Amino acid sequence: MSPPLVDPFQRRITYLRISVTDRCNLRCQYCMPEEGVPLRPRSKILTYEELLRLGRVFTSLGFVKFRITGGEPLVRHELVPFLAEFAQIPGVGELVMSTNAVLLSEHAEGLARAGVQRLNISLDTLSHETFVRLQRRDELDRTLAGIEAAQGQPFRRIKLNAVIIRGVNDREIPALARFALERGLEIRFIEFMPTSKQRSWRGDRVVPAEEMREALCAEWSDLKMVREPGGESGPSRVWAYGAGAGRVGFISAVSETFCQACNRVRLTSDGNLRGCLFADGQRSLRDAMREGASDEDLAAIIRSVVWNKVESHRIGREDFSPIDLGMSELGG
Ligand code: 5AD
Ligand code: SF4
Repeated sequence: MSPPLVDPFQRRITYLRISVTDRCNLRCQYCMPEEGVPLRPRSKILTYEELLRLGRVFTSLGFVKFRITGGEPLVRHELVPFLAEFAQIPGVGELVMSTNAVLLSEHAEGLARAGVQRLNISLDTLSHETFVRLQRRDELDRTLAGIEAAQGQPFRRIKLNAVIIRGVNDREIPALARFALERGLEIRFIEFMPTSKQRSWRGDRVVPAEEMREALCAEWSDLKMVREPGGESGPSRVWAYGAGAGRVGFISAVSETFCQACNRVRLTSDGNLRGCLFADGQRSLRDAMREGASDEDLAAIIRSVVWNKVESHRIGREDFSPIDLGMSELGG
């Protein structure tokens, strides 16, 4: 196995996020407009064979961690058998997945058996009304059932992710933390980030991580920081509360950038490799493969994307302009 790729800012890039579909069974306000986003034709989406080939090329370049995202990955046909094969690629150290849990009851067991080690599950609210408003589908019950089903399987860790939007679910921060704590789950609160497709982003709808912490401190006075970004928890600053009883993290792309600890690149469902969520510049691994590229050619493209990673995104700066893709297209 070759040593990890290092970008111009001395960051070791060993983590690939793979979006396997741009389709989704929800319509989260922070991700998409109500009518959804135009879907890529199926012929443009990477086939499982292409993804397996790329998995082998990435591992040969020292990538060890792979996260499956979407859209909602579980809406893609035959995902579980594909993951079982992907997990067998030599060098795949960690295989993890992000999901909204709507279909998780049906697939939790298969995923665990396929070799998916950890899950990140989106849960922004415990209220049916808010779920219908924020996710625009009445799927809270299936989501909660999915979380419960996952907890019955031997996943190494299940984390909950909650995007907080002022005036929508900001009052639920303590309730969500309590829900997680009672179930022995870690929860991470995520600042609402700008992507142009959801049109609803405004600076005053962002609840800064500091304010979220304060909302929790009102209930857990012993809240304290236990880990900085980087390392195992990626971009999230992890805090402990309740005398070590549970863990809560904050992902604050807007108020406190974590770019210096970035270790990842992203593959969109149509095969574009991107160095940063918020920066332009991508290369098509799909076109290269379909034009007959060798594994060496693919490796050269991957290296060039790593070498062109930007130092930091520009959210919050004057020269920031949101990219023209939603998370379902980019792979959140
Ligand atoms: N801001 C913050 N997080 C987002 N996600 C998608 N869109 C946004 C946004 N605008 C993330 C959330 C969600 C996952 C699917 O993608 O974590 O749970
Ligand atoms: Fe679907 Fe995730 Fe986008 Fe929500 S945020 S619409 S669950 S892809």
